[in-house]
Amino acid sequence: MYLSREEEKFLESDNPTIKKSMEILVALGEIFEADRLIEVKSVQISGISYQNIGDAGLEWLESLDAKFVVKAMINPAGMDIIRWKEMGIDEGFYRKQMRIINTLVRLGAEKSLTCTPYYFDPPSFGDHLAWAESNAVVYANSLIGARTNRESGISALASGIIGKTPNYGLHIQENREPTLIVDVEFEIKNEAEASILGYISGEKVAGEVPYFRFKNTLPESWLKLMGASLAAKGNTALFHVKEQTPEWNKFSISGLEKIEVDIVEIKTDECEPDLIALGCPHLSEQELENLYEVVKDRGKVKREFWVFLSRKLIEKRKSIVEKIEEHGIKVFSDTCMVVSPATESYECVMVNSGKALQYLPKLRRVQVKIGSMKECVEEAFKV
Ligand code: F3S
Repeated sequence: MYLSREEEKFLESDNPTIKKSMEILVALGEIFEADRLIEVKSVQISGISYQNIGDAGLEWLESLDAKFVVKAMINPAGMDIIRWKEMGIDEGFYRKQMRIINTLVRLGAEKSLTCTPYYFDPPSFGDHLAWAESNAVVYANSLIGARTNRESGISALASGIIGKTPNYGLHIQENREPTLIVDVEFEIKNEAEASILGYISGEKVAGEVPYFRFKNTLPESWLKLMGASLAAKGNTALFHVKEQTPEWNKFSISGLEKIEVDIVEIKTDECEPDLIALGCPHLSEQELENLYEVVKDRGKVKREFWVFLSRKLIEKRKSIVEKIEEHGIKVFSDTCMVVSPATESYECVMVNSGKALQYLPKLRRVQVKIGSMKECVEEAFKV
């Protein structure tokens, strides 16, 4: 991989954090046969929950000594940093989690703590990024037309310190070409069906750049949920949708193999939910409004009901959030039902997300039921 004189100097830096960051990017570039490094507009760092990285990760982070040179954002952590006690998080966990967050802020990261960084200050078409959170990667590539590979937390951090990433994979135009057509032969009726479609087709399209043809137009939030499931099941980092996504007509699809999907049905656990959890990925403003519409004429929820969204959105829509909370629903930020150990206090969680369906049983050891937002709300008010 070609390195400029300035980039070579980073490899000889007296600062071990800068030197190590550059070594990580060079090693990655060599593995993937990148020709050079390219500048990135922003980085997004995942894997920051104390639950995931433990004391070893915390100590390593605290040993770092440099500043991010580009906009750096961080993924959800293990708790709401203000209402952690309400989530049942203990003080020891809280303190360690805050040390992780404060270290990243000392390095120059924004305390964004969201997996939907694309809703505030979104990147532009063609921007190069080094993002790690899988739903954010697939959203940025597919729905915005920005360019990012699926980074690890460490490679995104290294890119933030150096301001660059190796030029390979989805940074290169020809690698963004669709490789498989997916014809969806029925009308998608709600966001949960879109999410389940991503869940069931994830493995079938693994390693491909799928080009979807739908019978109906899917709203942005449905595509967000579908992308998150595709990424969770099949590592998908880019998809195109006919007449909907920004690069859908930039490539020829003639001669591509086709597969058909006829129905979206999955069997989830037959359990009685003791927790309803929405916001995987974190809710958009539109989804928050949709939720308000379905709860506003009802009384108090009969079951524990958590909603996750970014703190920025909570601050922007304070009054709607307060109205939703009057129904006994808890609106949390900085975390989610999957990364927070708080979910482990429950047995059966109802969600509208294929990504949560994929990870909750493994990471939080709970049973999972899936339904649309409306069905989740119905369940929450059932006696
Ligand atoms: Fe986001 Fe947590 Fe789901 S980080 S995509 S809400 S697993």
